[in-house]
Amino acid sequence: MDERQHQVIARWERRWLVAGVVMLVVFVVLIAYSLITQGGHIVHGGGKLAPNAVQNVPLFASPGVRELSSGDFQVGVVARAFAFDPSDIVLPVGARTRFYLTSVDVLHGYLIQGTAVNIELIPGQLAYFDYTFAHPGTFHVVCDEYCGINHQDMVGTITVVPVAAYRQRQAAGDLPGHVVPPGTAGSAAAAARTAAPVDGQHVFDANCAACHQQSGQGHPGAFPPLAGHAPELYLADRSYPIDVLLYGLQGPITVAGKGYDNAMPGWSQLSDAQLAAVANYTMQAWGNDGALGSDYRPYTAAEVADARAASMSAADVRALRGTLGLP
Ligand code: CUA
Repeated sequence: MDERQHQVIARWERRWLVAGVVMLVVFVVLIAYSLITQGGHIVHGGGKLAPNAVQNVPLFASPGVRELSSGDFQVGVVARAFAFDPSDIVLPVGARTRFYLTSVDVLHGYLIQGTAVNIELIPGQLAYFDYTFAHPGTFHVVCDEYCGINHQDMVGTITVVPVAAYRQRQAAGDLPGHVVPPGTAGSAAAAARTAAPVDGQHVFDANCAACHQQSGQGHPGAFPPLAGHAPELYLADRSYPIDVLLYGLQGPITVAGKGYDNAMPGWSQLSDAQLAAVANYTMQAWGNDGALGSDYRPYTAAEVADARAASMSAADVRALRGTLGLP
């Protein structure tokens, strides 16, 4: 091409560049104008998970499948454009499974085809649900919220296999999407644990530490501390901590001067003995025992069984907290 054609092309390139910059400026001015004149405001996240919770909460820092005890599973899933982490999961038939999900960028969905599960994943918010797959099969997972150019590629699978096949794959190390806890030797260790008397620390580490941390310190802005806080609950009302464990807690609370507005799920799937043990562990760990006073008595499984007879929602538990004078 000659020099003249070259100049023509260069001139058009410049014009388009200028046009692009002008459009950007126009958009910024329009947005600023509408914010000022319409009294609009920019929404800062949902305030549910701290911005760095995804890096610091083990459940999301290393997402995947965890077997908490024989037959009880926990799955952490992080959604981002344009993939689920993990995308492919294997579970045994009949596994009682609690899924925890979040999105780190835009609105995504988690729809498991062939089931009624269809969860909206809002950036910065924690979503969870319980599900038990009753039959073997392959279930396709899709993102059903339009999230961008490769939205249609945002897929995954949940493969549900018979328990024997699952244990075989576990022995062979062939379980995609699984987080292998350090020092866990699979079913033999799980069997030994379930045969032993209930150890509150074990129940805590397996179920509660993902949010409240093994140190009981929680995670600022996302999950309140139990160190220093659990005795306050006991002293306000001995039965209240058991209600929280059984029915969860939903609504804004203040602990040690910091606000929290997350949803704690109820743990009624744990046994009475497990819940009593974890309540006792929580009251006595991290120096909490020093704040309990001389009237303290450990919880019994029978007390948990009594509390199960009541039926409360997580929001009811928040209202109850208010009546006890707790912020
Ligand atoms: Cu993610 Cu559509």
